[in-house]
Amino acid sequence: MSEDLKGKVALITGANKGIGYEIARQLGSRGATVLVGSRDIGRGEEAANKLRSNQIDARTIQLDVIDQKTIDSASKQIEREFGKLDILVNNAGIASDGDRLPPSQVDIETLRHTYETNVFGVFAVIKTLLPLLKKSKAGRIVNLSSGLGSLTQNSDPNYEFANAKSLAYNSSKTAVNAITVLLAAELKDTSIKVNAADPGFTATDLNQHRGYRTVEQGAIPTGGYAYAAVRLASLPDDGSSEGFFDENGVVPW
Ligand SMILES: NC(=O)c1ccc[n+]([C@@H]2O[C@H](COP(=O)([O-])OP(=O)(O)OC[C@H]3O[C@@H](n4cnc5c(N)ncnc54)[C@H](OP(=O)(O)O)[C@@H]3O)[C@@H](O)[C@H]2O)c1
Repeated sequence: MSEDLKGKVALITGANKGIGYEIARQLGSRGATVLVGSRDIGRGEEAANKLRSNQIDARTIQLDVIDQKTIDSASKQIEREFGKLDILVNNAGIASDGDRLPPSQVDIETLRHTYETNVFGVFAVIKTLLPLLKKSKAGRIVNLSSGLGSLTQNSDPNYEFANAKSLAYNSSKTAVNAITVLLAAELKDTSIKVNAADPGFTATDLNQHRGYRTVEQGAIPTGGYAYAAVRLASLPDDGSSEGFFDENGVVPW
């Protein structure tokens, strides 16, 4: 087991299952202490137990990205136990059933509900934890975006997922991309790097397991759905900031 992330503290939101769990597993297997963010403490503990049984230093942290109180207490807990945060992976995200309509027919509540988690939740977590990331020698923020958030791809009729025009979800990920760019610009003279990762269409609860990629593919160290996020979370000091990547390279904004 490689130990290149030993001494690093990584928080992954929504790490109790799906892509977040696999990101936590891969960071942990490289020696990082992983904080398994979960809005339900029981589900988080179950995931952390599984990681610990694989010799990973995993701890559960209760964090609901739409509940500022839990974000504040997570921040206090990290401050108390570690005094810093090296890696923040904003993975928690949702897709709503009400989004499977033509864009003009989507209910405003679906839009609000989706943005609450995917956009405001991401920003609230970053804003609260930034002081702890600034205490790291090499802070890394990775925002889980999606190819569906790319305006270039959304406006390309030949894009592989050109028919997936979910107004709330796609635009929430476009907003995540904007947050990534703006924050990276603000932090460009610091040691913190901010990037967005596209895991690709992966079979998880988010899409009722319709994704093409399986959980097993996530474990492929040189590719797979967790690859871009894990790579960006462990970038060297001369690595990129303000980028959007999948496992093949740059994704257009
Ligand atoms: N799957 C894909 O094809 C795909 C493609 C592109 C991008 N993504 C992005 O990848 C990320 C992970 O998705 P996934 O496919 O792994 O989905 P998933 O299996 O449904 O997992 C989502 C995770 O987010 C958590 N979550 C939801 N709302 C939360 C909240 N308010 N506070 C804290 N945690 C919350 C869930 O917790 P609970 O267990 O408590 O519900 C779960 O742990 C998302 O940002 C998604 O948009 C996925």
